[in-house]
Amino acid sequence: MTEQKLTELLRDMSLEEKVNQMSQVTGGFFNGEIVVTGPMADKGFTEDNVNLAGSVIGSMGAETLKSIQKNYMEKHPHHIPLLFMLDVINGYKTVFPIPLAQGASFEPELSEQCASVAAKEASVSGLHVTFAPMTDLVRDARWGRVMESTGEDPYLNSLFCAAMVRGFQGNSLKDNYAIAACVKHFAGYGAPTAGRDYNTVELSEHTFREFYLPSYQAGIDAGAALVMTSFNTVNGIPATGNKKLMRDILREQMKFDGVLISDWAAIEETIYHGYCADREEAAVRAVEAGVDIDMMTGIYSENLCQMVRDGKIREELIDEACLRILRLKNNLGLFENPYKDADQKKEQEYILCEEHRKLAREAAKKSFVLLKNEEHILPLDQQKKIAFIGPYVDNRNLFGAWSFIADAKDVMTLHEAVQEQYVSENSTFCQGSPMLGADVCLEGFGEQQQQSYTQEQEDHMLREAVQAAKEADIVVLAIGEDRLQSGEATSNANIRIPEVQEALLDRIAEVNQNIVVVLFSGRPLDIREINKKAKAILQVWLPGTEGARAIADTLFGKYNPSGKLPMSFPYCVGQVPVHYNEYSTGRPHVEGKDKDRFRSKYLDIPNEPLYPFGYGLSYTTFEVSDIHLDRTWMDTSGQIEAEVTVKNTGNCTGTETLQLYIHDIAASVVRPVRELKDFKKVTLRPGEEKKVVFTITEQQLLFLTENGIYESEAGEFEIFIGKDSLTDNKASFVLKK
Ligand code: IFM
Repeated sequence: MTEQKLTELLRDMSLEEKVNQMSQVTGGFFNGEIVVTGPMADKGFTEDNVNLAGSVIGSMGAETLKSIQKNYMEKHPHHIPLLFMLDVINGYKTVFPIPLAQGASFEPELSEQCASVAAKEASVSGLHVTFAPMTDLVRDARWGRVMESTGEDPYLNSLFCAAMVRGFQGNSLKDNYAIAACVKHFAGYGAPTAGRDYNTVELSEHTFREFYLPSYQAGIDAGAALVMTSFNTVNGIPATGNKKLMRDILREQMKFDGVLISDWAAIEETIYHGYCADREEAAVRAVEAGVDIDMMTGIYSENLCQMVRDGKIREELIDEACLRILRLKNNLGLFENPYKDADQKKEQEYILCEEHRKLAREAAKKSFVLLKNEEHILPLDQQKKIAFIGPYVDNRNLFGAWSFIADAKDVMTLHEAVQEQYVSENSTFCQGSPMLGADVCLEGFGEQQQQSYTQEQEDHMLREAVQAAKEADIVVLAIGEDRLQSGEATSNANIRIPEVQEALLDRIAEVNQNIVVVLFSGRPLDIREINKKAKAILQVWLPGTEGARAIADTLFGKYNPSGKLPMSFPYCVGQVPVHYNEYSTGRPHVEGKDKDRFRSKYLDIPNEPLYPFGYGLSYTTFEVSDIHLDRTWMDTSGQIEAEVTVKNTGNCTGTETLQLYIHDIAASVVRPVRELKDFKKVTLRPGEEKKVVFTITEQQLLFLTENGIYESEAGEFEIFIGKDSLTDNKASFVLKK
């Protein structure tokens, strides 16, 4: 349809029709079972509203969605199709590693492929929009939603956000298997005070713009069709009713012209924030802020028509929002084909097909981070007697919280994966402990509760595990967080593995010191105890459908790990929020000067995290030479080439990720101690070496200066090139203006 036809359609629509386009309901409204979450009830919707609602959340399946679409369109006065939306986060039925794990691959192109596969499976199941990517910057591992971000770095997040948008949307939304992406949560949702979900966000304007906005901008520049508002306040005003944030920053400054959707019930929550007195005021604030779709409160459909008639809201605001929604439908080609790619036969053919599983295995392997490997205990020697112990040995729930449509029966356990490919007569397998003990409360999750065991059963499990450990040369301990311990509304003040698993580790360590921990989690954990007791730690996150095979490949050396941490692993919870790119302080702590009391440091722990951003080992070793600069100064139109030689000094082929960090030594606004500006992955055979060249241009030196604009400032800069964010391999240059 042409833009003119769309405008004509809009002109022809009644106020009721236009307002209800702005309202989103669950598929449950179409089959009688209404689903609600959060502090809201199923109020505000009448049958008429539902019959005119513009979009549906949370339904899936080609047959179901085609039937909903058909029935709906027949009744609709203008036969306007519905949009079907769902959280397709790290995969649909073929589940890829959680986004935080994908960040560890330092390979956005791979995430683009994963998003494209997710889009293919979702689109043949009838979906048009995914609520992804979540690109909120995260620094606080107490916030369980860090699992859905790609980490603590704005540059890395920007690359991943753009890649995922491209993956979901393809070249054009009309193309086969493309779905619209929704960048979320605008803005600053990743910085709740004290890591408590939905809590107040307090960010300085400078930090907000420099660290938090760039990755949303990257998603918008990549063409994201939608943006979702966040639940939190920004400068004291709830984002969902924040005109300055949405009109001035998002639309004017960031040039977003797509559909802005509220988060679930977020319009109503402006009342609980104490910002709006009632539902009417909530409606006005949200519409004036330019929120086009009300996700699941009924506030728009209940109030807007009357408010327009009473002159409390201008009809142009409704027209503007409705037109954006119609445009999205048109861009997806729904006016010509309201079912788009929905196809039962293709669901059978594509979902979980070999090709998708293969990609899931590759993505999982690339997300693993080898945190420690003493005495080359990994890769495992198949001739040794190995005891696989832990609640993850026989567990199929290897996907993150958002994979609610994925089916555990499609997932292999670690036990099965080891037996499938590797010598297993030498191996024993046992659970050792329950996943969760009494210290963890997952009440209210609405999913089946964890299996519970009697004390006698637990004692038996433990005895069996200790015996197996005694008889083994090596113990592989597959432990970690339960998949439901991270995700939305899973803040934790204690970010250790459940006590019952720590007790298992203690007992095993008493009888066998050759421990390899395979650590599952949706967030960085405090792993000091594990670090003391294990010779090797392989961080595998929540690796998805093919996770177990990927782990087996890695443990037995068929694959050499190369992942790098996208988020620092704190020394302990008292250190969070902790991130590598902190601002310089007036009293920096100087290594080795612990007796110098009046410094910015802790008395009881180091300043540095246990494992920093960008860190990750390999089964081989790499040496990085000093940095060679082709010149030591440049002007704003010039460039400097910074070169290092990286050599594989071990005895197997491996991949290293060289990272370039820059530090502006003196600036009109205090700068971070270092910032990631580029990285390159290099694969080398044993003994092989390669020159790696980074080109530095003015672009990488821009920042938000005291003038409130992005510009560079003349002066001296330090650059660091190395294997992680704490590298001391440095050089310096001068920018002349
Ligand atoms: O997309 C999500 C959002 O991230 C959190 N609240 C619910 C939305 C829809 O499921």
